[in-house]
Amino acid sequence: MKFLCVVVLLIGAASCRKLPSFIEICHRKDPQINKCLQRNVEILRPRLKNGIPEMQIPGFNPLVISQATLSGGVSFEAIFNNIRMYGADDFIMDRFEVTTDPKFRFDLDIHFDKLRILSDYKINGRLLVLQLNGAGPADGNYTNVKAHLTTEGEHYQKNGKDHVRFVDKKIDLSIGSTNLYFDHILGDNDQLNVQTNRIINENSQEIIKELSPVITKVIGEFVFGIANRIFERYSYDDLFPL
Ligand SMILES: *[C@@H]1O[C@H](CO)[C@@H](O)[C@H](O)[C@H]1NC(C)=O
Repeated sequence: MKFLCVVVLLIGAASCRKLPSFIEICHRKDPQINKCLQRNVEILRPRLKNGIPEMQIPGFNPLVISQATLSGGVSFEAIFNNIRMYGADDFIMDRFEVTTDPKFRFDLDIHFDKLRILSDYKINGRLLVLQLNGAGPADGNYTNVKAHLTTEGEHYQKNGKDHVRFVDKKIDLSIGSTNLYFDHILGDNDQLNVQTNRIINENSQEIIKELSPVITKVIGEFVFGIANRIFERYSYDDLFPL
């Protein structure tokens, strides 16, 4: 097999990628495929913090996203730049189910006991009873974050091989509690800033509702980012041989 890969490489033909030896191969028709995948999740988890160079997966502590915006019509806009999420690699996969036939789908429940998200924010508009117009660093701790993700794969050909990419991604999110701090939310008056942040945190359910698209985006990047990298690099036959 090794010999064949070398030959294929030498003639510059389609990629011949083998999964790293620490991965357990899951067969497409294995009735216990979900268990096999769960075992692989456990194998990958401790490696995610520093990344998995063999699979071109970068480190995820932090997971970095350049920008996310929130818009509540004309009255409210928030922009978050340089978003860094810490703690994603400490996820717990509560459920991981795939179907391979007729379409590749996965359906999973994941939770994070604690996530911390740092960013540079810019908020303009009305939030709760507050009229805000501020910018600066933001810090947020989120506990008991649960997400349900589903997606369906679409087959396509790359270098003559069958690959899968994910379309129609869905994420439902719930967040237990938050503690946030928006530095300089009302400019240079420290006392006012502390007070304003206190009001924000006293209304955390409201705020969670407002911020949840941003958290959803970050968690989506985490899960689908890993899935897309793996499925782009390895063909369907490499990942799930018959
Ligand atoms: C978030 O948690 C970290 C570490 O536990 C702490 O240093 C930081 O002050 C917290 N941030 C907020 C906004 O509570």
